[in-house]
Amino acid sequence: MDELERYEGTATIEKVAALSRRRGFVYPSSDIYGGLGSAYDYGHYGVLLKQNVKAAWQRALVQERDDVVMLDSAIILHPSVWVTSGHVGGFSDPLVDCRTCKLRFRADQLDASACGRKPSRRPGETPECDLTEARAFNLMFETQIGPVRDEGARAYLRPETAQGIFVNFKNITSSMRVKPPFGIAQIGKSFRNEITPGNFLFRMREFEQMEMEFFVPPAEAERWYAYWIDERRRWYLELGLRASHLRVRAHDADELSHYSSATSDLEYLFPIGWSELEGIANRGDFDLKAHSAGSNTTLEWVGHEERFVPHVIEPAAGADRAALAFLVDAYDEEVVAERPRTVLRLHPRLAPVKAAVLPLVGNDSALVEKARALFEELRRALPCEYDDSSAIGKRYRRQDEIGTPWAITIDADTLLDDTVTLRDRDSLGQVRIPIGGARELLLERLEAPWLPR
Ligand code: GAP
Repeated sequence: MDELERYEGTATIEKVAALSRRRGFVYPSSDIYGGLGSAYDYGHYGVLLKQNVKAAWQRALVQERDDVVMLDSAIILHPSVWVTSGHVGGFSDPLVDCRTCKLRFRADQLDASACGRKPSRRPGETPECDLTEARAFNLMFETQIGPVRDEGARAYLRPETAQGIFVNFKNITSSMRVKPPFGIAQIGKSFRNEITPGNFLFRMREFEQMEMEFFVPPAEAERWYAYWIDERRRWYLELGLRASHLRVRAHDADELSHYSSATSDLEYLFPIGWSELEGIANRGDFDLKAHSAGSNTTLEWVGHEERFVPHVIEPAAGADRAALAFLVDAYDEEVVAERPRTVLRLHPRLAPVKAAVLPLVGNDSALVEKARALFEELRRALPCEYDDSSAIGKRYRRQDEIGTPWAITIDADTLLDDTVTLRDRDSLGQVRIPIGGARELLLERLEAPWLPR
């Protein structure tokens, strides 16, 4: 494939998944029971990485702006929400079964699927393939509320966080100091019974979204749509994604969701090819009007001299998919001093651990004492690790693999002149700095712009 030929990283999904498991970022879920297809559990470093992704999103979309407020709505909403939103009727993918190999495929992705037999072919390609007609398969997970399992108890796990925002429009406009243009942002779990999940964190059945609904006067919708495409692109670049691996792709008319008059995807060049990282949609007044009619509650903006139904621009991102893109983009292999090195060149703000404090020799009590004292000082300001467990080279390699941007080494000279060695993960450069200035220097570097490679 053309795009794959142009993929320039050393990463593959398999290598990133293997490193994630080996180094405590992400484990296959329910592992000891054989795993649950395409479900993953985040380990210590994965939790920290994903938290940093979400914090960076919240910082850019809420903290550093005057016009966006937050929400954390329930995962199980009133079932009518999903009828009104169109999800009960239309949130489905076309599904075909193969009666021979008993596998299921998305009818619109047969070309990219492999059938169950070896050597694997495209479903429908061999005379033995026996595919059913395509049927609509609703992606929502159903559940019941309360002890009685009847039709009236049916509810859904939300397939997007967006609807929780629309149904709170009235609460928020009447309790918060907001006025269009303004946004409501939400981070939380969503659930989709995907027919073909896969590619590690890329497509899962349980995942986290970071969505913002930006309510604007109708005449300003196009301008804000363009604005949010630019803003969201800039966010990924500032956090270190390579510009050559990020592009904007406008949807063709036949790809648009039922609610959207225009959508653009920010696509990232994953090792599997260009794929959606985030969607930015112009949802018009579809949702507020639909929920007004569905709930008999007027959902509109009422100002001193005006009254209108705002149009909505929606940047909708996935926290797991963004974490995967940052991991893939950061993954690098090289040979240093004739030894292979694997390194995650994560943006320092995304790195799970910012600095490692390492006594050069782990069994020298004077060095250990000095290193522990520095570690205790640093850990109050930023996430750090202390390690005196093995040879220094091995400890550096471990920090490289979890993406720690700086290592501080305490050696015999430290005891004489109170200086330490600061090692840079990317350049491998080492400089001598006063121990007393380490904290300030690290905090400064953390805020400074950072360029990949
Ligand atoms: N409210 C609009 C909406 O949900 P979407 O394009 O279906 O739009 C937004 O989802 C983002 O959520 C995607 O760009 C992707 O990053 C993430 N996402 C969607 N389905 C996912 C899945 N099955 N696994 C992981 N992330 C997913």
